[in-house]
Amino acid sequence: MTTPSYRFPKDFVWGAAAASAQIEGAANEDGKGESIWDRFASAGGHIANGDTPETACDHYHRYEADTALMSDLGIPNYRLSIAWPRVIPNGDGPVNPRGLDFYDRLIDTLLAAGITPWATLFHWDLPQALEDRGGWLVRSTAEAFRPYAETVVKRLGDRVKNWFTLNEIPCFIGKGYADGEFAPGRTESARAVNQGYHHALLAHGYALSAVRTYGGPGARVGLVHNHLPPPQIPLIETDEHIAAARAEYERTNGQLMGPLFHGRYPEAFLATAGDDAPHVEVGDLDGIAQPMDYLGLNLYSGDFVRAGRNGLPERLAFPRQFPRGDLPWLNLTPQVLYWGVRHAAEVFGVPSFYITEHGAALADEINADGEIIDLDRREVMRSYLVELHRAAHEGYDVRGYFAWSLLDNFEWAEGYAKRFGIVHVDFETQKRTPKLSAHWYSQVIRENRIL
Ligand code: NOJ
Repeated sequence: MTTPSYRFPKDFVWGAAAASAQIEGAANEDGKGESIWDRFASAGGHIANGDTPETACDHYHRYEADTALMSDLGIPNYRLSIAWPRVIPNGDGPVNPRGLDFYDRLIDTLLAAGITPWATLFHWDLPQALEDRGGWLVRSTAEAFRPYAETVVKRLGDRVKNWFTLNEIPCFIGKGYADGEFAPGRTESARAVNQGYHHALLAHGYALSAVRTYGGPGARVGLVHNHLPPPQIPLIETDEHIAAARAEYERTNGQLMGPLFHGRYPEAFLATAGDDAPHVEVGDLDGIAQPMDYLGLNLYSGDFVRAGRNGLPERLAFPRQFPRGDLPWLNLTPQVLYWGVRHAAEVFGVPSFYITEHGAALADEINADGEIIDLDRREVMRSYLVELHRAAHEGYDVRGYFAWSLLDNFEWAEGYAKRFGIVHVDFETQKRTPKLSAHWYSQVIRENRIL
């Protein structure tokens, strides 16, 4: 028997990801408007250690050095996001030319370094002015997203060919408007929240149209999806457990994946929601269900599910000592990179994928020589990639993988204490130090195989 080489398909896209509010800083510079995360942080009491996104990694001023760093590491693709309040400070008012200029400079710098940009139009930093008028719970926010998306695509579309519309609807709606854990920190009724989900889907459709209309030749676009609850991994890969995991996947993802991929809310969702189902206007579902070029998946943790009593899906609790990263939800379950893809393909017919995020928050330590030997993060990435390789090997069209994250950054309600970077950031000095995982990943990219 030969050892499998774990080689990835030719043209596989390797990259690293980040998001505007998490790295840029310059929260009040060059005409940027306030975002809901700026407000949430300044209100106090919501973010660990009182951290704020005000300075973050200061990437706004250091993007050239950060690009050079990626280039040194041989990272050929970079997933970034555009801050809506930097481009249109009030959400739907006049455009801020200096905001657009920044993304112009950033894109040009990346391209000059041979790095392909992958741009996400919305990664959670909603203009506060729109939140003041109801945020995602009102339809006018989705309507405002259309001209914003058009503005960005018109300006950058000659150079940016790979677009993502929205990042993780379940997080910015569910945690933002139902749990209150994320900005804007609201806890609204099921009816209101379902309407918010619908508006986010609507905004996705508008952004997709913007790319189709103004993106120019070769433009491609998709959504970045995540799963809440986490994707279901069959306890054992037998028919009955697989069927149970799949049924639970379908039930918990139908509200978003049904409209997106089947052009309708599933009957099961509507039956459960009852009077809390969203109000849908004529034409909404046509816009939402326009074909995407790919689906982005952010995959970190899965849940184990078995066929329980009467074959019904049963989610299993994690034992106390189950391997876990530096966050309570971060159960280390490499199989999620396989099952996240397989379920989406089998249940909703999703044809092709990018893993737009995967990574781990771990409590890094700097040794006496100033190195960060994050054997743990490397091992996590490696074991997850083996499962992604399996998906590719079995014929699922997985086209790329973006490590989350390029830099340690502002981890939302967790602030700066939780480090996901493959590059360490000293937030006092802004010094960047590639961790072992970055050096290893660099070699993986070079050889297009798991090492
Ligand atoms: C997904 C989000 O898109 C990203 O912003 C976040 O930092 C990571 N998950 C880690 O929690």
